Amino acid sequence: MIKIAPSLLSADFSKIAEQIAVVERAGADYLHLDVMDGRFVPNITWGPKIIGDLRKLSPLTFDAHLMIVEPERYVDDFREAGADVITIHEEACVHLQRTLAHIRSLGAKAGVALNPSTPVDSLQDVMADVDLILVMSVNPGFGGQSFLPVALRKLREARALIDAENPSCELEVDGGIGRENIRAAVDAGANVIVIGSKIFGAKDPGAELRALRALAS
Ligand code: DX5
Ligand code: ZN
Repeated sequence: MIKIAPSLLSADFSKIAEQIAVVERAGADYLHLDVMDGRFVPNITWGPKIIGDLRKLSPLTFDAHLMIVEPERYVDDFREAGADVITIHEEACVHLQRTLAHIRSLGAKAGVALNPSTPVDSLQDVMADVDLILVMSVNPGFGGQSFLPVALRKLREARALIDAENPSCELEVDGGIGRENIRAAVDAGANVIVIGSKIFGAKDPGAELRALRALAS
């Protein structure tokens, strides 16, 4: 089962309730929430307060992608705000295993994200503590960037690692996904597909989501 995770980074927050309702009606599985701190990435978005407010608008799985330094300082707050999956960056976390275990102890799913330059091998020793691997197919920070083809090889490597070490772990891909490459990402092993600008930039976001899902399945 392929899961589609619209990224609210490209949504119009002046009508956010309507934007969420549209993707929910179109069958979105997760809502992908990009948290940026202006340090780990050059951009700034939102924190737990906004996620807590959005929580009142939708029962969908909240998939929080923390692009922040020292994520261990904030995971409790994001869990409290209603995040169901909390994904931290391997590059941002000195004690990765401890933080992943802590996320699980809060009752959330623990995810770990890899920048395009970070090898999949770096996750070998935390596979027992991970519920989701996020392969970045752009350098994080902005929506609307071009897909980096190296992500396909990394997805295949991550799929092999998951199959060998922790088959229930999900494999998510994020960045530059659209009609032209969604099938390739699925064929490489991804089962959760983050899509931002291609959904919310479309004239009819619901129809675009359905078209993307049809291409993925
Ligand atoms: C980028 C974010 C993505 C972003 C993807 O740093 O992690 O989730 O919203 O946007 P698109 O689909 O436009 O590349
Ligand atoms: Zn993201």
